[in-house]
Amino acid sequence: MAAAVRGFLVMLALALAFAGAFQLGLAYDRPPARKSLFISLSKDLRSTSPQQVHISLVGQDKMRISWITDDPSPATVEYGTSSGAYSFSANGSVHSYSYVIYDSGEIHDVVVGPLKPNTQYYYRCGFDSSPEFDFKTPPSQFPIKFAVAGDLGQTDWTSSTLEHIAKSNYDVLLLPGDLSYADTNQPSWDSFGRLVEPLASKRPWMVTQGNHEIEKIPLIHSQPFTAYNARWYMPFEQSGSDSNLYYSFEVAGVHVIMLGSYTDFDPTSAQYKWLQKDLKKVDRSRTPWLVVLVHAPWYNSNTAHQGEAESVNMKEDMEDMLYQARVDVVFAGHVHAYERFTRVYNEEANKCGPVHITIGDGGNREGLASK
Ligand SMILES: *[C@@H]1O[C@H](CO)[C@@H](O)[C@H](O)[C@H]1NC(C)=O
Ligand SMILES: [Fe+2]
Repeated sequence: MAAAVRGFLVMLALALAFAGAFQLGLAYDRPPARKSLFISLSKDLRSTSPQQVHISLVGQDKMRISWITDDPSPATVEYGTSSGAYSFSANGSVHSYSYVIYDSGEIHDVVVGPLKPNTQYYYRCGFDSSPEFDFKTPPSQFPIKFAVAGDLGQTDWTSSTLEHIAKSNYDVLLLPGDLSYADTNQPSWDSFGRLVEPLASKRPWMVTQGNHEIEKIPLIHSQPFTAYNARWYMPFEQSGSDSNLYYSFEVAGVHVIMLGSYTDFDPTSAQYKWLQKDLKKVDRSRTPWLVVLVHAPWYNSNTAHQGEAESVNMKEDMEDMLYQARVDVVFAGHVHAYERFTRVYNEEANKCGPVHITIGDGGNREGLASK
């Protein structure tokens, strides 16, 4: 009888081991990279029509509307809570940038509000008969739903990612770096703006930068982040930061910190000092959740991107601060594979440390890091 029980247990163990192996075999392996996309300007648009519209949170109850036109047009947004009836309007600023032989279109930034939480708004950009857009403001209290995606690029897989996000009924998108993969080819930034507009014009997209945003060319273009800073203006001033490359914001009960992996982070740097101050401002009764985004992961068991200064040195310099502040989650991109650590600090499981999550790949042409 005992032998029979033992035999059964061995069988059970074998069956479980087999089931485990079988499950591994069934794990979803995304097929190789899909074809690259380039989204051209729609023929229906005029030279003053808004294109590449995207929105981002500013303070507790405002939204920045950003768009580009080929020819100059006023930086004015008309908006209201019913379609076609615009009770409010706001003016903003226009600028452009040059990059080697490329000159950007007219980049408009207009902050609208105060806005009511969890409310649908309708808006149009510029005075002419430009199409109507709409957005929904995030709720002021839980529950709130974030979508987190990065390393997007522009391929058929990116479109697939965007379709999934669109279906998720999210409130705010968090993007830990690597947006267009333009990699110095500026028209590709315009293509990216058009690709994401259907989503980014409807919900706030809060982004931080990755290595693909640096776009420095030795001797030819020495300024980093030219296109990124011009096109993706984030609300850094509101959090006391002096750089678009790092900032924080609060939404519902969450304090979100966007760090910059590719700007200075050592203890003498402006980013480090800003982070110290920002963490002191966190009030856990107002924002019980404390979330950090960074491009290069601080914890990573993948063979890809091991030993980079942006991971190793930044972690060495800043991990203590995040630990002392009891950060809940750190989201990273860069390594094109999903990985989640248990709560961790100083290389060891620690129940007061943050959970580190590398979010996986958004669809760019480089493909997956599968080792
Ligand atoms: C925006 O600018 C236009 C043109 O200068 C002006 O007529 C309008 O009153 C301004 N609107 C607001 C809300 O300041
Ligand atoms: Fe990256």
